[in-house]
Amino acid sequence: MRRLRRREAVGLAGAALLAPPAFATEPAEPVLLRAIPSTGEKLPAVGLGTARVFDNDDAETDRAALAVIQTLVRAGGRLIDTASTYGDAESVIGKAVAEAKLRAKLFIATKLEEPNESELRRSLTRLQTATIDVLQLHNVSDPKQSLAAFRAWKEQGICRYIGVTSTFHGDFPAVESVLARERPDFVQIDYSITDRAAERRILPLAAEVKAAVLVALPLGRGRLLRKVRGKAMPDWAKPFAASWAQFFLKWVLADERVTAVIPGTANAAHMADNLGALRGRLPDAAERARMVQFVESL
Ligand SMILES: NC(=O)c1ccc[n+]([C@@H]2O[C@H](COP(=O)([O-])OP(=O)(O)OC[C@H]3O[C@@H](n4cnc5c(N)ncnc54)[C@H](OP(=O)(O)O)[C@@H]3O)[C@@H](O)[C@H]2O)c1
Repeated sequence: MRRLRRREAVGLAGAALLAPPAFATEPAEPVLLRAIPSTGEKLPAVGLGTARVFDNDDAETDRAALAVIQTLVRAGGRLIDTASTYGDAESVIGKAVAEAKLRAKLFIATKLEEPNESELRRSLTRLQTATIDVLQLHNVSDPKQSLAAFRAWKEQGICRYIGVTSTFHGDFPAVESVLARERPDFVQIDYSITDRAAERRILPLAAEVKAAVLVALPLGRGRLLRKVRGKAMPDWAKPFAASWAQFFLKWVLADERVTAVIPGTANAAHMADNLGALRGRLPDAAERARMVQFVESL
C-alpha cells in the first residue's frame, strides 16, 4: 500500500468521519487487505463484530444493522462476524443483507456451539444464505474437540472455511491443541493494546499452522475508548491515526500475523471511523511500543 504523508492520511480519515458521502462510491485509495493463508484470498482487514449490538429483532435494530452494513461495504469492507448465540443477530444481519442485496459482497463468519446439524441449518436460515464463509467452533475449551463435521460441511460446500474461537485465556491451551491438530483455516482470539496474552503462543502457532487470525475485542469491549475519553491524541500518533478507535485498531493491525479486526458496533458513524483504519500507514515497531507505554501510563 502506498505510504501517505501525514496531511493526506489525517485528511482522508477525517473526511471519512465528517463526511460519510465521501465513501458513497468506491474508496479513494486501496484498503488494507490481508491474505487468508490457506487460499491466498484477500480480505479487508477491518470488519464488523456483532456480539450484543443486534440482540433484538426489532425495527430500530433492523435500521441500525442496515446502516452499519451499508457503511461497511461502501468503505471497502466485507467481513461480518456473528454467532448462533448472539441473540437475534443472525436474523437481523440476514434481513439487512437481503434487503440491501449485499450477500455477494460480504464475507460472513458465524459460530456454532457444537458440530450440530440443526444448529447449522438454523444459522443458514437466519442468515438467509446457502453458504457461510467461515464456520467457527465457538469457545473451544477441550483439547479433544474435533472439527471433523466442520470439515465435512466444507467439503459439501456449506462453508468455505472452518475455524475455532476463544476469548477465555484459561482455554488457550485447548485452543492451541485443536489448532495444532486440526489446522483450521481460521482462529479467532482476543487481542488489544492492553490484552496481549495471544502474543505468547496463539499468534506464533497460528503463523506456524498457517491459520488466518480474526481479532475479537480489539477495543477491549469499549474500555479502551473510555480510558482515553476527553484526552487529546499525542502529536506523534497523528500521522497514522485520525481517531482513538483507529489508534487502537491500527496497533493490532500492525501485527502482520493478524488477518482482520472485528470491532463491534451498531453505530454507522463508529463503523466509518473504524474503517478509517483500513487506510493510511500503520505504526512501525517503535511507534507500537510507544503506544503501549502511553496507554499503560494513563
Ligand atoms: N469467543 C468469541 O468468539 C468472541 C468473544 C467476544 C467477542 N467476539 C467477537 O468480537 C467482536 C468484537 O468484540 P466486542 O464487540 O465485544 O468488543 P470491542 O469490539 O472491543 O468493543 C466494542 C465496543 O466499542 C464501541 N465502539 C466500537 N467502535 C467505536 C468507535 N469508533 N468509537 C467509539 N466507540 C466504539 C462499541 O460501542 P458502539 O456500539 O456505541 O459503537 C462497543 O461498546 C464481537 O462483536 C464478536 O463478533 C468473539
